[in-house]
This record gives sequence, structure tokens and C-alpha cells, in this order.
Amino acid sequence: MKSLIDILDLTTDELDELIACAEDIIANPDKYAEACRGKKLATLFFEPSTRTRMSFEAAMYELGGNVISVTGAASSSAAKGESVADTAKTVSCYTDIIAIRHPKEGAALVTANNASVPVINAGDGGHCHPTQTLADLLTIWREKGRFTNLTIGVCGDLKFGRTVHSLINAMSRYEGNNFVLISPEELKVPSYVKKDVLQQKGIPYEQTTDLMAVMPKLDILYMTRVQRERFFNEEDYLRLKDSYILTTDKLKAAKPDLAVMHPLPRVNEISVAVDDDPRACYFKQVLNGKYMRMALILKLLREAGKIK
Ligand code: NCD
Repeated sequence: MKSLIDILDLTTDELDELIACAEDIIANPDKYAEACRGKKLATLFFEPSTRTRMSFEAAMYELGGNVISVTGAASSSAAKGESVADTAKTVSCYTDIIAIRHPKEGAALVTANNASVPVINAGDGGHCHPTQTLADLLTIWREKGRFTNLTIGVCGDLKFGRTVHSLINAMSRYEGNNFVLISPEELKVPSYVKKDVLQQKGIPYEQTTDLMAVMPKLDILYMTRVQRERFFNEEDYLRLKDSYILTTDKLKAAKPDLAVMHPLPRVNEISVAVDDDPRACYFKQVLNGKYMRMALILKLLREAGKIK
């Protein structure tokens, strides 16, 4: 049973295929309106979410399918002490495909190992978030027209920001990219990402605390919020939360074709005035996420033999 737990579960050919499918959905939505008729998606969200859960649900509805959902551990049997494995076996009896978000790293993998239907990781703790990366990839594709030879700045909470970990994994597979990792000392990219991905693949990268020093060379600036819910104490969060605030003034130093991205939710990292700059792509990312999730649901249900 094919599931999507880590972005590396997909080959680059499969990513191309998903992007082509999303582009076709954008161009011909009617062609897909009945594609998942009679099929059900279960969304199991044990952590807060607006975009990810709603975009999965909107995606399934736009494919003509149905959705059943659990929102919040407190309202499910997890609150009674049920294991993730048992929840996976149970939910498999009701649905054709599962999207799960969970605060524990590895929970999506445990779900996939115990479910009898395809499972999609919609974020597992501070680990990874592959479907956000699908949204990010379609956005990069549509904005830059390529996945190669890009200087990619990622800025903010690179330690706990799971979307950053998945994005680095994905973009490290293409030729000629280099990363500029911009964060406070305490929130640097975890060493497993640096060693197992960047260093192992020989990808050029630099680490800095100074956004303005690197701004002029960036092709992409991927901002992230400081992940309050993963901090052990509130004082550290308060000290670090406003480390970077992107303003229209700061963007004056950037390339005219910079793509400013953010997985959202935004807290304070990008001033609202930046939204009117044509380089701001984060709301396009939201829409792109829905199309990529449609393409992914189609692919996984097809491979499971559940649709044609
Ligand atoms: C991200 C997440 O949940 O990791 N949000 C999202 O799914 N778009 C980013 C975040 O919460 O900061």
C-alpha cells in the first residue's frame, strides 16, 4: 500500500507527474469533478490546522468524494488512551484514504504501518510535512519555471519548522540549488537535516543570523513562524518570536523576481503591507496546496486500485 509519509517517498518523476496532474486540474476542473465519487477521505487532525485540513477536505469534495473527520485529540478515543496503531486499524474500516496530523514525530508512519488504506502525513510533530512541500513545489514551479539553479533562503524557526525540513529534502534532489539558512543560533536546522541531506549530497549551504546580509542574492525567501507549541518554555519563545520581520523596506534590497513564500499561519514574520508586493506568493501557495492534494489523492487511490 503506497502512502506518503516523507517527501522522499516520491521519486522526482512522481513529483513531475503530480505537478502535471495539478496543472491539468487547474486547466480542466470539470474533468475531475467525479473522479472520486463514492470514495471517502478521513482527516485525523490531533493538532490545530486551518489550511491543511480544509485543503484536504476541499480537495476531496472537488474530486466528487466525501470526507469524515476527527479534529482534536480531546474529541477522539486518543483521549481514552487508544494507541495510534489501533486508531489506524479502526479508521481503515471506514474510509478509503487517511490524512493524519499528529504532534508526535513518527505517528504518521505508525499509522501507515497499521492501516489497510493509503495514509498521508499531514505533519508529524517537528519532523516533516510532505504535502506542504507539494504546495511549495507547485508554487516554485509556477513562479520560477524551474527547480534547478536556485538560491533558496529559509528563514525563522529552522529547528522545529517541519515544512522547512521537507522542503530542504525535496529541493536537494535538483541540480545547482544552494541554501541560505537564516535563523537565530538556537533555532538552526537540526543536524540530521544538515548531515543526512545537505552534507551527504554535497549541497552548498551557508548559515547566518543576518537576513539583510543575504537578501540580495536570494531567488526564494521561505519565511516561517517560530513554532511556539514546540518550545519547552514560554520565555524562550517570547525572546525569539520576532527575530525576523519581513517589511516592504527590507524587500527593497531583494531581487525583483524574488518569490516570498510562507507555509502560513503567519504570526508576525511578514508585515501585512508585503502582501501587496507582487513578489508575495504565500496566498498562492495556499491554493496550490489544494490542487496538489487533489493530484495526490488521485494518485494514491489509483495505485490502491480504488479508482480508475
Ligand atoms: C505549517 C505546519 O503545520 O507545519 N502549517 C501548514 O500546514 N501550512 C507551518 C506552521 O504551522 O508554522
